[in-house]
Amino acid sequence: MNYRETYDYLKKYGQEHILRCYEELNDAEKEALLLQAGSIDLSLLGLLDEYRRGADVMARGTFSPLGAVTVEEIAEKKEAFSEVGLKALKDGKIAAVLLAGGQGTRLGFDHPKGMYNIGETRDLYIFECLINNLMDVVRACGTYVPLYVMTSEINHDETVRFFTEHDMFGYSKDHIRFFKQDMAPCVGYDGRILMEDKGRIAVSPNGNGGWFSSMQKAGLVDDMESRGVEYLSAFAVDNVCQRINDPCWVGAVLSSGCDVGAKVVRKADPNERVGVLCLEDGHPSICEYYEMTEEMITLKDEKGTLLYNFGVILNYMFRLDRLKEIAAKSMPVHIVEKKIPYLDADGTFVKPDAPNGYKFELLILDMIHLMDTCLPYEIVRDHEFAPIKNPTGTDSVVSAKALLVKNGVTL
Ligand code: UTP
Repeated sequence: MNYRETYDYLKKYGQEHILRCYEELNDAEKEALLLQAGSIDLSLLGLLDEYRRGADVMARGTFSPLGAVTVEEIAEKKEAFSEVGLKALKDGKIAAVLLAGGQGTRLGFDHPKGMYNIGETRDLYIFECLINNLMDVVRACGTYVPLYVMTSEINHDETVRFFTEHDMFGYSKDHIRFFKQDMAPCVGYDGRILMEDKGRIAVSPNGNGGWFSSMQKAGLVDDMESRGVEYLSAFAVDNVCQRINDPCWVGAVLSSGCDVGAKVVRKADPNERVGVLCLEDGHPSICEYYEMTEEMITLKDEKGTLLYNFGVILNYMFRLDRLKEIAAKSMPVHIVEKKIPYLDADGTFVKPDAPNGYKFELLILDMIHLMDTCLPYEIVRDHEFAPIKNPTGTDSVVSAKALLVKNGVTL
């Protein structure tokens, strides 16, 4: 779009202020701004009115409990599951996607979260821990798992450079592909899109549910299909202990015939702040801890076991054909209030210390709900659950380090 067309497009949505400093930009900046403005999905702004009116855009259905294949059951069937999993891995049917497009704001580290060094006597980066874990599978099945790393516009170059500088942490470079997730505009409380500079709209990664459509756009779904991939796991960057595509888990999901498998952890106590895997109107779903009623929190079976008892850890395995089917459906867009740095009307860059606007996010949990069937697979918390969200306290660098040491990793 040229200047006039872009202006008209923006004006239709009351966003022509984006071009306010256009004449002050050089030619390259002008071109970049027109390109960015033209590629932004302004129809998202329509959702704000509903949100501000308090309309319940995310109305939930009726929840019911969903059990899990437990640690004890998995131990009994370990051999059979592992055999199925190993075969599928050897046949190249299983790929993995590392979701590393987030901004990691809680950690307060000014680089991609995976670059965080948790070593004490040596360098040990979060990315490195994940690759080390996946290498256990590579060694067991004698072949590399195709690994796709999702970055964002903000951290892509730094992430790729870091992996390259570290020789992919020993992974085969022929089996790693990086791709960028889509971005969404950031909007101030007045409904106007924020600028991060005179020539740049403030944008943020469009949430951890944007990965599959971004992979499709990047041509990677075709790439997977041409390699014969049938299942795809998606996992978070910050859980340094998680096992990725371990044969027993792969075999359990494949044997179940479910559309998706979800690694889950038994709640440490009924009020633990984790999203619980359950059913919603008969479909798999994740009920956030703040959505749980007191009755759900305390509901027990006849043996006294809590019924809403398994929290998700953001480690899933999807059937690729089902992912393609749901990709055609529209996912709900969540609006979240955040602190968004911006250029104010006087041209001063402001870093707010309280939320000042909205971001638009797609969530992976909505992908689970679009599936028909899900296998919850219990993991041992002390082996596999060490998320790094904060510098200290719960789910922190400190707690993750302690768990790594407990699992025999030298820091
Ligand atoms: P979180 O929800 O913990 O978000 O992400 P975050 O951005 O890493 O951290 P905070 O909330 O700002 O502190 C869970 C996983 O989803 C990925 C993250 O990289 C992490 O692996 N993610 C999140 C994306 O890949 N893209 C996004 O847009 C958001």
